[in-house]
Amino acid sequence: MEVIHDPAEYQQRTLAWRRDGLRHALVPTMGALHAGHYRLIEEARAHAERVSVSLFVNPKQFGPSEDLAKYPRTFEADRAACAVRGVDLLFAPDAEAMYPAGFQTHVEVAGLSEPLCGAARPGHFRGVTTVVLKLLLLGQPTAAIFGWKDAQQFLVLRRMARDLAVPVEMIGVETVREPDGLALSSRNAYLSAAERGAAPAIYRGLSVAREAFGRGERDAAKLIAAARAEIAREPLLTIEYLEARSLETLAELTRAEEGNTLLAAAVRCGSTRLIDNVRL
Ligand code: PAF
Repeated sequence: MEVIHDPAEYQQRTLAWRRDGLRHALVPTMGALHAGHYRLIEEARAHAERVSVSLFVNPKQFGPSEDLAKYPRTFEADRAACAVRGVDLLFAPDAEAMYPAGFQTHVEVAGLSEPLCGAARPGHFRGVTTVVLKLLLLGQPTAAIFGWKDAQQFLVLRRMARDLAVPVEMIGVETVREPDGLALSSRNAYLSAAERGAAPAIYRGLSVAREAFGRGERDAAKLIAAARAEIAREPLLTIEYLEARSLETLAELTRAEEGNTLLAAAVRCGSTRLIDNVRL
């Protein structure tokens, strides 16, 4: 597996793949790879002859009081994990290479970026869309693979690609979970033993709502109340938001609609902010 740090070199290599008629699937990551990322790599392989993984802790998507400095950086382990999974190319630029002096351009998806995590983390999605569009332009992939765990991120990025006619298929992959239901996330590494014990209540709560939906409940307020009540049983958890939104527009729903409902939550567990969701 080749490791490239220089954006121009990455672009040359991936343009050569394109010239050779090879499909290329890109898995954008911030490193600290876990089984959720491995699943994305597997999906990438199913869509292309060449797979690249980008590994870049993007400063533009962290707010001033967020965890940029302490975000886990595990380059050697990530490199080994990619190599063993047959990744063709690992692209690991540094911030100066991605955002050289004089960088002034940002991409913003209005509307979809505003509620949920967008409200709690001003500027976050602007950072995500800016870096992902740059990665797509550098890598010229035929497919790009993202996790549904970050549902709003996926919806925002898919909208960006559609709006700007980026010639890439944006693919969402189901969330990978621990046996107790906790969604895999690089931020789970921050949890103390007690917090780790409490965190699965987030998915338990979402599952209670999904079961109620399965029994025919369509009143969004009732579904949300059921999920909240389950999560509230864990004193270490504080709900930041738990909302029912349209999967297309992220408009708030009063009635859950089959096939068009995202039940999304952000929950504080000590100083760690965890997100999860289910689609109904
Ligand atoms: O989901 C992530 O890890 C990041 O937001 C992404 C898509 C790699 C952009 O930095």
